[in-house]
Amino acid sequence: MKFSVITFGCQMNVADSNWLILSLQKRGFTLTLKEKEADFVLLNTCSVREKPEQKVYSEIGRFRKKWEQNPSFFVGVGGCVGQQIGEGFFERFPYVRLVFGTDGLYLVPDKIEELLNFPHKRISLLSFEDFYPEREKVFPEKADVSVFVNIMQGCDNFCAYCIVPFTRGRQKSRFKAEVLTECKTLVERGAKEITLLGQNVNSYGQDKYGDGTSFAQLLREVALIHGLKRLRFTTSHPKDLSLEVIRLFGELEVLCPHLHLPLQVGSDRILKIMGRKYTKKRYLDLIEKLRLARPDISFTTDLIVGFPGETEEDFKQTLEVLQIVEFENAYSFKYSDRPGTRAEKMENKVPEEVKQERLIRLQALQEKITQKKYKQVVGKEEEVLIETISKRQGGTNLHFRGRDLWNRVVNIESSRDIRRELVKVRITEAKKHSLVGEVR
Ligand code: 5AD
Ligand code: SF4
Repeated sequence: MKFSVITFGCQMNVADSNWLILSLQKRGFTLTLKEKEADFVLLNTCSVREKPEQKVYSEIGRFRKKWEQNPSFFVGVGGCVGQQIGEGFFERFPYVRLVFGTDGLYLVPDKIEELLNFPHKRISLLSFEDFYPEREKVFPEKADVSVFVNIMQGCDNFCAYCIVPFTRGRQKSRFKAEVLTECKTLVERGAKEITLLGQNVNSYGQDKYGDGTSFAQLLREVALIHGLKRLRFTTSHPKDLSLEVIRLFGELEVLCPHLHLPLQVGSDRILKIMGRKYTKKRYLDLIEKLRLARPDISFTTDLIVGFPGETEEDFKQTLEVLQIVEFENAYSFKYSDRPGTRAEKMENKVPEEVKQERLIRLQALQEKITQKKYKQVVGKEEEVLIETISKRQGGTNLHFRGRDLWNRVVNIESSRDIRRELVKVRITEAKKHSLVGEVR
């Protein structure tokens, strides 16, 4: 019996899909990348913005023909759109037989077996749990060299624009012992880099479901794992970034000098309406403190343009922060209405052309900054963790792709296979979104 998994969205979805694949393989199912051959397909979806949500419908539609030819074929829809639309998918697509949210994910492998035994059954797993639903422990024989480990699920912040608290439920921290066991096992099996994942990792342990461990404590303990070379975490909320965690950037050798710290906007007025609970000044203070703790630290961020009521003046505040902080990179989005959020109900929506124009200006500025930052690295020596062999090969050498300490993608040529290695590299060129290096 063969299956495919299609994943949209954030790293949490990627990590969830990886678990799903391992768990199904353990039950004897075979993963295939050729959807044509699959007996069932699982879609792990994202609804954080409008565009990725629309993609889900066209993806499911693609399988209609396949189902008409083979009526036992079925699709399962999970993740944020799965949670949000739920059984609505059953009405729209006769071949969708399973819908699940992230809290229901842990039950999916069992339910797939049930669906195969009962061909007319349809199953929905949409209830929110009031604890972190631990999953069956399945680890690959050989772990990827860089792995993700979930430390929590859900979010309590209810930022005005965000659908996540509705699709992933309340924040539920995972017990420290579970996180540590998973991290240790993955390192024993070859992982060298761990990224701790959560919607708002800085408030790990601050909810009533966890065991009371703080995020700083968790970082300290994970950092002690023998054999671990690099530690990262994402995503952070500026309001919950503690001084203790900031100091750890200067204390823990394995903690990489890079932080993704979503700003969203630079205007205090809009930050307030968004419910972000920090000001531009507080954000800039955090950046300064982080730079004091770890002078070479680099930053990336998320930005939204055209939030309801955003004026040209507000927007300029965002541009100003970009210039002050000089992020290495920024993921920028036009505001889009998400069902059920406070912002959806706001009146003074910004016209599409204005949003588009602001996005272009913002991205042009960021590109300049990124180029400036990347050019400063040319000629420098650094350590790159090689993750994959590149798809495109050519010439006499092999081509590889890895990341440096600052999470920048580096492409490297080498005459020998350097996969999974930490290699000393000299940076020779800055491309638009990556660097080129040669092995020393
Ligand atoms: N519109 C545009 N961008 C959004 N994001 C979240 N919700 C919305 C929305 N309604 C962005 C934020 C967040 C990132 C994951 O997606 O910048 O940090
Ligand atoms: Fe959404 Fe805000 Fe929670 Fe991030 S912190 S997931 S933006 S509600």
